[in-house]
Amino acid sequence: MVRFTMIAGAAILLGACNGSEAEQAVPDEAAVQRLMEQTVQPQAEIFWNSAGTIIDETGEHDLAPTTDEGWERTRQAAANIADSARLLMTPTYADGRGEDWMQFSQSLVEIAQRAEQAAANQDVDAVFEIGGTMYNVCTACHQVYISEDVPPAAGAEQAS
Ligand code: HEC
Repeated sequence: MVRFTMIAGAAILLGACNGSEAEQAVPDEAAVQRLMEQTVQPQAEIFWNSAGTIIDETGEHDLAPTTDEGWERTRQAAANIADSARLLMTPTYADGRGEDWMQFSQSLVEIAQRAEQAAANQDVDAVFEIGGTMYNVCTACHQVYISEDVPPAAGAEQAS
């Protein structure tokens, strides 16, 4: 987690150079982008790829894990998303955002906890359904906070 500390340091320096507006918090876009790119998106893909089916030239394949290890990977992915969502509520990520930032982040914590429980229960239907709801939470925050929406790519077709 050292890299987050470094990013926070950079944000403080930027703020300090900001003269009269030094007290106004500026969103740290780079920190958010890194968290999304390095953790949230890859972990969400693991979760989304744990329910539903894919069809390729060899036929239809069920995506659900078939082993305890596979389910544990899904559960861990959901736990990692919950951790990231809690991080989003810390000053490094939340400074300079509106009230709704905290609400979106809290929604992601809650849905990720449900996701973790569904995976612990090895409940394919719940994982599928919760995956769709999770996608909507991602999108809701992006619609407010990204001018050009970057849709989470994988799982979109299952979620809709
Ligand atoms: C609380 C708000 C919020 C939530 C919830 C959220 N995101 Fe984001 N996300 C952002 C913001 C803000 C950016 C833009 C960061 C930037 O590039 O400046 C972003 C960017 C991204 C990006 C693009 C990163 C890049 O490489 O530029 C991806 C992918 C992404 N989010 C995936 C997700 C997924 C998947 C979820 C849900 C599991 C999610 N996000 C939930 C706020 C959020």
